[in-house]
Amino acid sequence: MIKKIIAANWKDNGSKEFIKDYFDYFKNNLNTEHEIIFFPPDLYINQISTYIDNNNFYLGGQKLNANVGDKPFTSGNSSEMFFDSGCHYILVGHSELRISTSYSTSNDLYYANDLQIIFCVGEDKSDKESNNTKDKIIRQLRELCNKANYPKIKPKKVIVAYEPVWAIGTGYTPELKDISFIHRFIKTYVSENHPFLKEKDIMVLYGGSVNSKNIKEILRTPYVDGVLIGGASLDAKKFTKICNLKI
Ligand code: PGA
Repeated sequence: MIKKIIAANWKDNGSKEFIKDYFDYFKNNLNTEHEIIFFPPDLYINQISTYIDNNNFYLGGQKLNANVGDKPFTSGNSSEMFFDSGCHYILVGHSELRISTSYSTSNDLYYANDLQIIFCVGEDKSDKESNNTKDKIIRQLRELCNKANYPKIKPKKVIVAYEPVWAIGTGYTPELKDISFIHRFIKTYVSENHPFLKEKDIMVLYGGSVNSKNIKEILRTPYVDGVLIGGASLDAKKFTKICNLKI
């Protein structure tokens, strides 16, 4: 049995009733040795945390909203608040946030503190068509490897999620050999450029149109340490089945 990370990015989906039905099923049918992480909307983190027992799954925040410069900040959610609510993880740099000009991955890295970062990278369609996938990913990874972004805590490990933008929510996925190639490239680049981390400290997840049909072959692809799943994580039965897979 190989242990992988299986992460569910719920984005802006969910309601109290949906969560009750979902976790009543999930809790009764989960039989996994993988590490399962849910990224629900902030407002539902507390409700979902009541279903955690014996660390059967973990929670993460979708977006840090840090108090830049220690001034009061309306709508702020700090790393301490996420931690206090039961979160151990934080997504940084999801492509749906990167398109906003006010979004800064280095700001999120700077304020993540004790939360384990899952740092999202990936090329868009035009990068892919012009053969610029590696260049785009290097530009994104430079922020992750910038020592100035870790003022207080030296991270002991990092999780990178490779999510080609053209694969998110589209039903398209890269060929397995291309996923493997990019994952290996990310591990090498980060281990050579990160101020604190070595290759063994770097995990790489794949995200973008993962579903119950393609999950097994993706998880068996070399250099794939897990998956980040959007749409297919919203169906309790399908997602529980994914979590219960033996690889
Ligand atoms: P998807 O989303 O699985 O629906 O393609 C993945 C993501 O955006 O993290």
